[in-house]
Amino acid sequence: MDGLNRRDALKAGGVLGALGALGLATTARAEPWSWSPEESVAGSGSGVDPLTVWDPEADGVVARLIESGQVPRVNELLRTWTRNGQPLPDGLPSELRDFMEYARRMPQWTDYGKLNTAIEFNKKRGLYLGVLYGFASGMMSTVIPKEARSVYYSKGGHDLEDRISKTAKLGYDIGSNNAYAADGEMIITCVKTRLVHAAVRHLLPQSPHWVQSAEEDVPISQNDIMVTWHSLPTTVMKHLNNWKVPIPHHESEAFLHSWQVAAHMLGVRDEYIPKSWPAANSQAAQVLDPILEATPEGAKLADRLLSLGANIDLAIITKPVLGSFTRFLLGDKIADGLAIPREPVWDPLLRFSWGPFIAVREGVLGAVPPVGDAYWLLDEFLRKAALTYLAELRLPISIEIPTMNRDM
Ligand code: HEM
Repeated sequence: MDGLNRRDALKAGGVLGALGALGLATTARAEPWSWSPEESVAGSGSGVDPLTVWDPEADGVVARLIESGQVPRVNELLRTWTRNGQPLPDGLPSELRDFMEYARRMPQWTDYGKLNTAIEFNKKRGLYLGVLYGFASGMMSTVIPKEARSVYYSKGGHDLEDRISKTAKLGYDIGSNNAYAADGEMIITCVKTRLVHAAVRHLLPQSPHWVQSAEEDVPISQNDIMVTWHSLPTTVMKHLNNWKVPIPHHESEAFLHSWQVAAHMLGVRDEYIPKSWPAANSQAAQVLDPILEATPEGAKLADRLLSLGANIDLAIITKPVLGSFTRFLLGDKIADGLAIPREPVWDPLLRFSWGPFIAVREGVLGAVPPVGDAYWLLDEFLRKAALTYLAELRLPISIEIPTMNRDM
């Protein structure tokens, strides 16, 4: 049964009526795809709308693994595959091994000089990056409706804590000293994630809950991956620029490059990967900005993210403060959609004092420090919020291919 028929059958079967109340707002891109492949790292391409492209190379291989019951054994073998330079473990099905050997190759256009500069940038700006990955990208992912729904109804949706630490791992791996080097882990994380995404494409269309709430028939198109991608580097760089953090051109280019490579390693075609920041911003304006919207599933994920601080004893990191920071970063419309309450002290504090705080912190000539205790409070917040995010990485994390959806 193909995806469409299966979907129709599930819907017609009436299994799903009760979930209709979740609402089916149209959150797919409304405009036709007009972003030119000339703006991409490939420099040319078919121009096909990435909403209609998934990952055929991985999808078939993983679907067959699931159907033939081989996933538990594969997961066990892959648990030992942790370093980029490590050979694949013996005993993998040959079709999977061939795919992974192909998928682990770095793109021809990799610029290792830029990757080294990116390491410098990540070191220098680790504090800001931690906070922004965690609370700008992380919270934004909850208002990307297709991502929120697929995460919520997939297996990982039942243990959000675990799910958040795994996504945090990717932000950590890309920022680590040896991200793409032989002793690093970024290539492994990307290739495993590519397999997980392929599994999700096979599994979610079998979930009555997902079928009922989703607009698409198969999740995680190339368009969707780029939407999420923009919630990461494009959004992080936008905030750093808004905060007027001085970033030399070559560092900003290098940071972009490390994420261009990540997109390629996650299976995105080169013709969809922006070649420059202006190209990235123009693509984000088309694919990300118009679709941001709170959904019931996203609101639950957001609530869980905001409660992270409760896990560790860092007095300043409370749910209302993290909520206020989210409002500051993502704006009132999104914060209200996620039912984040207004915070009488922190909302104005962030609005009026964050800019001066960063300026003083960055040693901008003539910057006037925020009044009273504000500098100290914001500095404390910045350090502890980054720690909260990193604390999610305490446990050894193993990315595993799922074999089922969330048990609702
Ligand atoms: C799994 C990262 C795009 C939905 C994962 C994992 C990582 C990851 C690291 C493995 C962790 C885990 O197993 O939970 C990324 C990155 C993306 C991206 C860096 C883009 C740059 C997307 C998109 C969607 C999506 C666009 C949906 C529209 C999922 C789902 C899982 C997953 C449902 C599996 C959760 C589970 O059941 O365990 N992703 N992802 N991802 N991702 Fe993504």
